[in-house]
Amino acid sequence: MAKIVVHGGSPLQGEVKASGSKNGTLPLLAAAMLIEGETILENVPIIQDVLTMVEMIEALGAKCKWLAPGTLRIDATSLAKSVAPYELVRRMRGSFYVAGALLARFGEAEVPLPGGCVIGSRPVDYHLMGFRALGADIHEDHGIMHASADRLRGARVYLDPRYRSVGATINIMLAACVAEGTTIIENASREPEVVACEEFLSSAGAKIQGIGAATLVIDGIKRLHGARCRAIPDRMEAGTYLIAGALTGGDFTVTDVRPDHMHAVIEKLQEAGFVIHNHGTALRVVGGRRPRAIDVTTAPYPGFPTDLQPNFGVVASVADGTSVIEETIFESRYNYADELARMGANIRVVGRAAIVRGVETLFGAPVEATDIRAGSALVLAGLIADGVTEIDGADFLDRGYEDIVTKLAGAGARIELVGRARPEAAQCSS
Ligand code: UD1
Repeated sequence: MAKIVVHGGSPLQGEVKASGSKNGTLPLLAAAMLIEGETILENVPIIQDVLTMVEMIEALGAKCKWLAPGTLRIDATSLAKSVAPYELVRRMRGSFYVAGALLARFGEAEVPLPGGCVIGSRPVDYHLMGFRALGADIHEDHGIMHASADRLRGARVYLDPRYRSVGATINIMLAACVAEGTTIIENASREPEVVACEEFLSSAGAKIQGIGAATLVIDGIKRLHGARCRAIPDRMEAGTYLIAGALTGGDFTVTDVRPDHMHAVIEKLQEAGFVIHNHGTALRVVGGRRPRAIDVTTAPYPGFPTDLQPNFGVVASVADGTSVIEETIFESRYNYADELARMGANIRVVGRAAIVRGVETLFGAPVEATDIRAGSALVLAGLIADGVTEIDGADFLDRGYEDIVTKLAGAGARIELVGRARPEAAQCSS
């Protein structure tokens, strides 16, 4: 099992480039399945979740080829199967996007239900409710969703306004693009990754009104045509590096970012006392002072992203004063708290809240990452801890952070991956 070993105490200096977005690329890959023709995706991060999704669409019959690192050509003309392999779906929840794409292409889909994961129960009832509204007959049998429809028909779909589900919005939108008639999705997700998918589908001919809004009106068309798209920058990865620069006390710039996607995070870092310079497509942070305590409540975009909640748990752990973190999206997203406590943090989790009393110093310790974002939080903690931190579960970081070890080492961190090489795009090109 691979480990990340971090020797704390080195300030990050210079700059690091944000990769293409993981959560932005997965819907694009699913959307490419709707297209009988060629899709070119650029700025694709070479991370395990993307490689799994590419493997999935190849297994379903599409042709994928890496034209260069980060540039992927997909031709889904030959997509032939409507049965998604369990072995691939179980690896990550985002693979459930193939359900909407297969239903749209073939009028049927057989996809294993993704099941729970450590950050919460993560049901797919909104996805299924949307498919049913569009006229699909859905039944579940031994953990597998079977969906079929002679013809998908546009409908009004009302999503839960508390969550504005990212995954349900994508899946329903994919199916609606080629349904007969008009679909209205209310309380659609407005996350930048969803908006990027709306824009991509439009560039492939889909008729979507309200791009970026909470109400989407989609007029179904017969088929989409080939298109080209550049994945948006990964705002979660960029946020992690910005926090790393701030906490280690460096003068550090994250390039190739979209600051307009990161208002909530920038604002919280400023509230914690850090100075962030916005250079348009780059963000520079000058660290060096102890953060002030901050209160954080997660919410759908444009609120504070749940994916960066564990990272802010680290900021709060070393802040001057007591912070209160409230997690409103995923009920079990505090798995990192016990690990941080092993490093000297003082965190008490009460239901969906965490009360964090800041300490002056964290200490290196052996810890375990249980999901992607918990993993990045532990890396941040390791960067500022006194001594050596050994993080088990480096595979989780491979799923979502492109070259995290190389990027941080290039900026002066003393960090190494022990036990395995990074994933290679070549492994799944065909
Ligand atoms: C996506 C992101 C994930 C991010 C999350 C919230 C990807 C691959 N993953 O996950 O990184 O943390 O958005 O921004 O893009 N819910 C239901 N029923 C459903 C669907 C969702 O109850 O059918 C609930 C979930 O349990 C959760 C909330 O709605 O409490 C939001 O989930 P959702 O937005 O769907 O998250 P994902 O798409 O799974």
